[in-house]
Amino acid sequence: MRVLSGIQPSGNLHVGRYFGAMHQHVKFQEEANDCFYFIANYHALTSIRDKGELERLTLHVAAGYLALGIDPERSGFFLQSDVLQVTELAWILNCICPVSLMEKATSYKDKIAKGFAPNMGLLDYPVLQAADILIYDSNLVPVGADQKQHIEMTRDIAVKFNTAFGREVLVLPEPHIVPDVALVPGIDGQKMSASYNNSIEIFQTPKQTLKRCAQIVTDSTPLEDPKNPEQCNVYALLKLFTSDEEADELAAKYRAGGYGYGDAKKRLAELINEYFAAARERYDKLIADPDSLRDVLRDGGQRAREVAEVTMERVRDACGILINR
Ligand code: ADP
Ligand code: TRP
Repeated sequence: MRVLSGIQPSGNLHVGRYFGAMHQHVKFQEEANDCFYFIANYHALTSIRDKGELERLTLHVAAGYLALGIDPERSGFFLQSDVLQVTELAWILNCICPVSLMEKATSYKDKIAKGFAPNMGLLDYPVLQAADILIYDSNLVPVGADQKQHIEMTRDIAVKFNTAFGREVLVLPEPHIVPDVALVPGIDGQKMSASYNNSIEIFQTPKQTLKRCAQIVTDSTPLEDPKNPEQCNVYALLKLFTSDEEADELAAKYRAGGYGYGDAKKRLAELINEYFAAARERYDKLIADPDSLRDVLRDGGQRAREVAEVTMERVRDACGILINR
């Protein structure tokens, strides 16, 4: 089964992205699927206007992904921009995708509501994502819950293409969303996101993690009073890192009273620091050697291009696009 997913280099990697997406990506790789993972730098260009920042974030996400367990020997691992066929397919899909379908995208509507001036790239974002998915004949796309609509749109676009040209050219993908981690809260209780300034970053020092955990918003129940773990942002995050037994023990401590939010925050920082300790060491080595990192991406890109070109031959042939190379 072909498993594919991408991650935008639109901010530093955080705990929400890890549990919502990257952790699943590593799991699929361990289960010996045929996996393709890439860094969606053209998507990031819809919001980033700083050459240095986009380059830095692209390498940050690449090093982070590898440090967190993506093995380029087992999974295709590459940059979106190393497979130019994707932008070619995006244009072809643009020609069959109704504008009204794009106008329904909640991610687009949210960005506008937040005051972003909508560029064409933002409106077209799901079409480029559809091209990313369809070009590799992907069967399963592991993502966080907020991406579900984009996968549904990808299916709609594939059906429209196949119907328009009367052949089963494009394979319909399924989303894979893990309900327990579909929405990891940030330090303010909203969805953790690089763009809401509420994230707990993965690649930080233990001291920075402790400081960030101390900033998690809680209510003002006094230390000695009983507390409801199910309504606490710290507990929601703790559960991601503890065993089931420790989660139950901590819930009992919350309910009994005498256990303060400060204690819970310290335990959370400890757990995060332990969980990511080895990955942080690997990350430091990878990011210190950008040339080797780019060699890994180059190899992955070559493999991805070969697969993409086979699909494109089918697509061009189905719709009558002649090329002379
Ligand atoms: P961000 O909101 O930080 O910009 P992205 O939208 O680029 O993150 O998300 C990358 C991937 O990680 C997507 O599959 C997304 O669904 C998932 N993801 C991001 N934040 C969270 C979160 N807080 N909870 C669950 N999944 C998340
Ligand atoms: N839109 C995705 C996100 O914000 C990133 C992405 C781009 C993606 N292309 C994709 C995810 C293809 C899965 C499949 O996280």
